[in-house]
Amino acid sequence: MKYFSFFFMVTTVSFIFLNSCQQGSKSSQYVIGFSQCNSAEPWREAMNREMQNEAAKYPEIELIISDAQQDNSRQVADVENFIVSEVDLLIISPNEAQPLTAIVEEVYQKGIPVIVLDRKVLTDNFTVYIGADNALIGERAGSYTAGLLGGKGRVVEIWGLKGSTPAQERHDGFMKGIAAYPEIEIIYEQDGAWLRRRGREIMENALQRFENIDLVYGHNDPMAMGAFLAAENAGREKGIYFIGIDGLPGPEGGAQAVLNGQLTATFLYPTGGKEAIQTALKILNDQSVEKYITLETATIDSANASEFTGI
Ligand code: FRU
Repeated sequence: MKYFSFFFMVTTVSFIFLNSCQQGSKSSQYVIGFSQCNSAEPWREAMNREMQNEAAKYPEIELIISDAQQDNSRQVADVENFIVSEVDLLIISPNEAQPLTAIVEEVYQKGIPVIVLDRKVLTDNFTVYIGADNALIGERAGSYTAGLLGGKGRVVEIWGLKGSTPAQERHDGFMKGIAAYPEIEIIYEQDGAWLRRRGREIMENALQRFENIDLVYGHNDPMAMGAFLAAENAGREKGIYFIGIDGLPGPEGGAQAVLNGQLTATFLYPTGGKEAIQTALKILNDQSVEKYITLETATIDSANASEFTGI
């Protein structure tokens, strides 16, 4: 009888646990909670997949992914749930910086290690930040634009979500990249919230307002592609350059869009999913880690896009 109830308890507990984390049935030493700001976009799906593939190599860790669906309060609640379920380490890719700062500080101050991935928060109270240098990417996009336009032209800029740090950094970097070219003019800029649908709508408006547009700078590939589709629909895509950021592999990715001639260039923005799991393991095993891990970027255009389309 005693054995029976013990068995019952263990099965019930693991049933609840497995149900909430949707992972395999291994019993693991460490639980890593990953608070993803939104799992619906292709780049974020790739990030989740990379993490799951890497985590699967280590039987000692269990990875639980929550999806905040682009909602700051929901993401705060997801992290609170991770605190309650006593995860051993938190990885977070915050939706917007300001609204997620306090909860990241709270987790860190409770002694739970925190890895901030891709988008930043407004505090130094975390263990490690992993991401590519968005200001550098923006600057390269700016210089590339100056080269394409011969130092003169009219640009539409489609911003990522303004409260998220990559959007501000990609904008600031771009302005630095074109700073030496006063005849490059940003004629229209709007917040596209990182969404392809918004990119398309913004471009539809831009096309109505401006007869001459030389280049569209989208803070990510989905928005640049949305803009391309709007221009194509209006029969105006031929005279306009479209550049984006992400350079995801695969048939729907930015590298393939460059090969298709839809995007002129994109800039690689690695998801860092694999590095996040590797860094988490180091932290959990008490190994030393750098506070800032900067991922590599690359310019992808027709000269090298075929090297980036494979998965
Ligand atoms: C996905 C995404 C990427 C972009 C990154 C910036 O949510 O919009 O396309 O590079 O987030 O944080």
